[in-house]
Amino acid sequence: MKFFIDTANLKEIEEAASLGILDGVTTNPSLMAKEGIGGKAMIFDHYKAICDLVDGPVSAEVISTDFDGMIREAFELREIADNIVVKIPMTHAGIKAIKYLSDHDINTNCTLVFSQGQALMAAKAGATFVSPFIGRLDDISSDGIQLIADIRLIYDNYGFDTQILAASIRHPMHIIESAKIGADVVTSPLKPLLALLNHPLTDKGLEKFLADYRKNNP
Ligand code: E4P
Repeated sequence: MKFFIDTANLKEIEEAASLGILDGVTTNPSLMAKEGIGGKAMIFDHYKAICDLVDGPVSAEVISTDFDGMIREAFELREIADNIVVKIPMTHAGIKAIKYLSDHDINTNCTLVFSQGQALMAAKAGATFVSPFIGRLDDISSDGIQLIADIRLIYDNYGFDTQILAASIRHPMHIIESAKIGADVVTSPLKPLLALLNHPLTDKGLEKFLADYRKNNP
């Protein structure tokens, strides 16, 4: 399973990368805005800075909602670095853009996916990644993890190459459940990712080991 971090914050990306377990980064316009990044030049510079921190895929989202605009932006974003993945929303124009970009060997991440049908369309269009937003589904009393399971079944039935990227992660159990079901990738904010490291028995056990060591090593 690949671990991506879902942030545009350079310090958080650096911290996750320093663990040696980071495979990529996802961003979106809201995450960029949160960092105070605005204006095309600043946005592109920021993507470049992220791409310099990680070797793996870095998702950068288009702002255009029409086909021509999405394609134009995709080719501009692709110029930033080889590891840029163009993030395209799941819309009528978006599916056409994903198909076009896939035919031109440009990696895509189909974002804002909330149903099995949308995920099937993304795979048919040749998306590199599909991003079901599990936290946002849970927020409206729908079962986000079940959607990952359903997409896994559909993709396995037909051998689709599109990687399932579990997104909108709220807590560590979203990561664990996604792993059990067979999501190819999880993109998480730093906090749930780091929470995977913790267990109270680990802390207690380590405390005891060190206390015992100190008995004969004052
Ligand atoms: C995915 O790529 C999105 O950036 C992200 O996971 C959305 O998460 P949110 O629902 O916490 O905004």
